[in-house]
Order: sequence, then C-alpha cells, then structure tokens
Amino acid sequence: MKISVLGSGGWGTALAMVLLENGHDVTLWSYSERESQVLRETGENPMLGGVALPREMHFTNDMSCVKGCEAVVLATPSFAVRETARKLSALLDPGTVLVSVSKGIEKDTSLTLTEVIASEVGAGFPIVALSGPSHAEEVGRRVPTTVVSASRDQHAAELVQDLFMNERFRVYASDDVVGVELAAALKNVIALSAGVCDGMGFGDNTKAALMTRGLTEIARLGEALGGRKETFAGLAGVGDLIVTCTSMHSRNRRCGILIGKGAGVDEAVKEIGAVVEGYYAAATAKALAEKTGVEMPITEAAYQVLYCGKDPRAVITELMTRAKKHEIEESWV
Ligand SMILES: NC(=O)c1ccc[n+]([C@@H]2O[C@H](COP(=O)([O-])OP(=O)(O)OC[C@H]3O[C@@H](n4cnc5c(N)ncnc54)[C@H](O)[C@@H]3O)[C@@H](O)[C@H]2O)c1
Repeated sequence: MKISVLGSGGWGTALAMVLLENGHDVTLWSYSERESQVLRETGENPMLGGVALPREMHFTNDMSCVKGCEAVVLATPSFAVRETARKLSALLDPGTVLVSVSKGIEKDTSLTLTEVIASEVGAGFPIVALSGPSHAEEVGRRVPTTVVSASRDQHAAELVQDLFMNERFRVYASDDVVGVELAAALKNVIALSAGVCDGMGFGDNTKAALMTRGLTEIARLGEALGGRKETFAGLAGVGDLIVTCTSMHSRNRRCGILIGKGAGVDEAVKEIGAVVEGYYAAATAKALAEKTGVEMPITEAAYQVLYCGKDPRAVITELMTRAKKHEIEESWV
C-alpha cells in the first residue's frame, strides 16, 4: 500500500520504519527541507540515534506526496495538526484513511486531534487514532510494543491494525476513539507531575500515588466527555501512563524533573528541546475540568506550578491535606 507519514520527528520516523518493514511503499514528509535532507544524506534521524533508516524509504518536504496514498499518518506535534490537516485537505484522494498519532488536545477549542483533522478535511475520510505505550526510540530498535487503533469506523480501525501489525508491533482495535485520545493527552500532565516529584527527591510511594490517583481523575474526565472507563485501564490509559511516568525517554517526565530540581518552567520546557505536550495539555485539561465540573486535583496542582509559579512543595502539601475521602467514590451510597 502507498502510505505517507507527515512529520519526521522521532515518532513519525519510527512508525514509517514499521510500515516499511511490513512491505508498504512509504514516504516520510518533513516540515523543513533541511530535515528531509539530513534524513536522506545521513540515513539517520538524530531523535533515534544509532538506528539506520531503510534505503527504500522516500524522503520529501513536498506534501503532494499524499496524492494517490491509501493511508496518511499525521505525526506532527499537536500544535501543528490543524495546519497540517488544512494543507493536506486539498491534496487527498477521496476515501484516504487518516491516522492520527500525535498526543494532545487543541488549545483554543479543546478538540481532540481526530476532531481537529475532521474539521479541516471534511467528510469522506475515515480517521483513526493510534496510541499506547510506545517510545519512538524503542520502536526504532524493534523492541516488542503494543498499541491501540481506535476509530468509530470499524473497517478503518481494523485496516490500520493490519497496516502496522507485525511480530514486534502488536495492535489492538477499539471503537473508543474519544477515550483513547483523551487518555493519550491527559497522561502527559500526570507524567510531568511525576517528574516534578522525582526531581524533588520523593520516592516510589509518591510516584505510585500520583499515577494511581492521576489515572482516576483522567478517567473521570474522559468518561464525562464520552470515553469509556475500560479504555483508561487499557494500553492507551494505564499502559501509556506507566511508560511515560517511569521512563527517561519521556520528555514530559524529564521536563518535570528539571522543574522539581528548581529550574524555572520556561527554562525547563526550553531545555528539553522538543515539544513537551504535557505542559500544553495541563491548561486544556484544567479548562475541560472546569467546563464539565469534574474534580481533577492533580491536574489543578500541575497547572498551579506550570502557569501560576506556585512552589511544587506547597502544592504537594495541599494535595496531601485535602479533605478526607473514600477511595472509590460510590462507597456506601
Ligand atoms: N516520541 C515518541 O516516543 C512519541 C510516541 C507516541 C506519540 N508521540 C507524539 O507524536 C507527536 C510528535 O512527536 P515526536 O516525538 O515525533 O516529535 P519530535 O520532537 O521528535 O519532532 C517534532 C517534529 O515536528 C516537526 N514540526 C515542527 N513544527 C511543525 C509544524 N508547524 N508543522 C509540521 N511539523 C512541524 C519538526 O520538524 C519535527 O520533525 C507528539 O504529539 C508526541 O506526543 C511521540
């Protein structure tokens, strides 16, 4: 099948490698001419150090590569998804399957990224979200990895499952696209917070608490917005939360560690040198929590640290001294 991957960061490149390995004709589109030149000339992506790119892969920065493609993968940072989908819309063949692999919620509209894509390309294009515990660096090294292909369109979800699936990359299908996308975006806020706690020198107890209570609150918001609770207990939920909160590959966690060690927020975001999606998602998640009336204390705490200059230690004390509660909300009612 002819497939274009738009966005040649670590993730777009790693996924292009999976597709190529599965026998597809793959073109990797870069945002800048310079980036596609580096990939072509060096045969490597600096984001995936040491991994050789297959010779059969095509590199371009001309988006007309999507013409004649049966599937197009959108792998830009979340802030660039609308702009990319807009450019794409004039070039697509009818019925092309679009695969969203970025993780975020649009800042001004609070739309999920498949909703952003749909609003730009219009009807007639099945859209799938592909998400799960999957560091690009590890997928590039063919480390066994599992993800979820989610769409309201069963045929499209299963087609994407078939396109990507191989002995090192296992794909489950799901119809809960809202749950999968919200889990992907919201866990970045928890991962950033976990990093802050690591940076402050707290231990495993604190991280386990943050991950567990963090999952509870993101699932609560996800359900209020139409996602399914079970999705948050699956690969795109707890799976991705584990990988993002515990790994040094996670730029969200690394950004949090810098803040926990005392760096300013702007300085930490800049130092990571790549998009820290959790920073942006914290503001959107707070707005969504307020709109839906869902209680999200950890997200609120992250917002206070990231956007209001509050001291992380004070925020932790506030979280620990909240009014007492039952762990499971419906206990004894
Ligand atoms: N890296 C991972 O392991 C991983 C895994 C799953 C999902 N994701 C998600 O995939 C998305 C991309 O992440 P990444 O790790 O590949 O990023 P990256 O930091 O490796 O690369 C970002 C890419 O975006 C491009 N870019 C910058 N501005 C752009 C614009 N205006 N329009 C189009 N492209 C632009 C850059 O040229 C660069 O190639 C993010 O939403 C991320 O959360 C990443």
